Amino acid sequence: MSEPEKLIVDGLRLDGRKFDELRPIKIEANVLKRADGSCYLEMGKNKVIAAVYGPREVHPRHLQDPSRAVIRYRYNMAPFSVEERKRPGPDRRSIEISKVSKEVFEAVIMKELFPRSAIDIFVEVLQADAGSRTACLNAASVALVDAGVPMKGIVTSVAVGKADGQLVLDPMKEEDNYGEADLPFAFLIRSGKIESIALLQMDGCMTREEVRQAVELAKKGALRIYKMQRDAILKRYLEAEEEMEEIAEGREDA
Ligand code: CDP
Repeated sequence: MSEPEKLIVDGLRLDGRKFDELRPIKIEANVLKRADGSCYLEMGKNKVIAAVYGPREVHPRHLQDPSRAVIRYRYNMAPFSVEERKRPGPDRRSIEISKVSKEVFEAVIMKELFPRSAIDIFVEVLQADAGSRTACLNAASVALVDAGVPMKGIVTSVAVGKADGQLVLDPMKEEDNYGEADLPFAFLIRSGKIESIALLQMDGCMTREEVRQAVELAKKGALRIYKMQRDAILKRYLEAEEEMEEIAEGREDA
């Protein structure tokens, strides 16, 4: 990717968005047969899939915690997900993303309800275009609800970047590569209200005032994403209800 001369032209970003616009988002829950919960999610050109297993028995057993469930999170990038082939397997970056993402869910899942068990969250990045950790957190959150794992709320994640000196919501690759800062957030949202910040990372440089504005911008974006997560979950449960009705009708006919 060659460096563009400008990231903002006539007030619009290179992909035509305004500073406070998200990339197009697509969310579908319950896409994998074998997982207890799953989700496919697109955020712009990011394409990710999340699978949740558990609560289930912990192996090896010495990893069990008698007072609560152990949460495990694996972020993995497919070799074909980035411009230059990524070497398969964990690297420092994916280990770091897995660690901070696991900590988000440790704070949100009601893990005391499931002593001695494990909840495994796997997220595979099929295509990355900046903000892949935020896309993965959003997908994992929907997959956890799909699996019926009790949580204090929904996790919703979005980043704010700084491009040509201007704050931009949900930065894409060019803004991430050539911008001045990248601030990924995750929020805990309960009953449509932002309860707390569950993740905040920063790469680059921002003033105190810019950070304050970035929090406000991220909150607005997160509430929009939350609605789409909720819709995907509702759609999944309506489909399940229809399936149950069909089964019940089939039984009556038989
Ligand atoms: O993806 P995210 O913004 O959460 O993490 P990042 O470390 O800021 O990476 C930004 C982007 O760089 C990724 O989304 C990928 O598009 C790209 N990348 C890459 O091309 N090759 C890698 N080995 C890692 C990241």
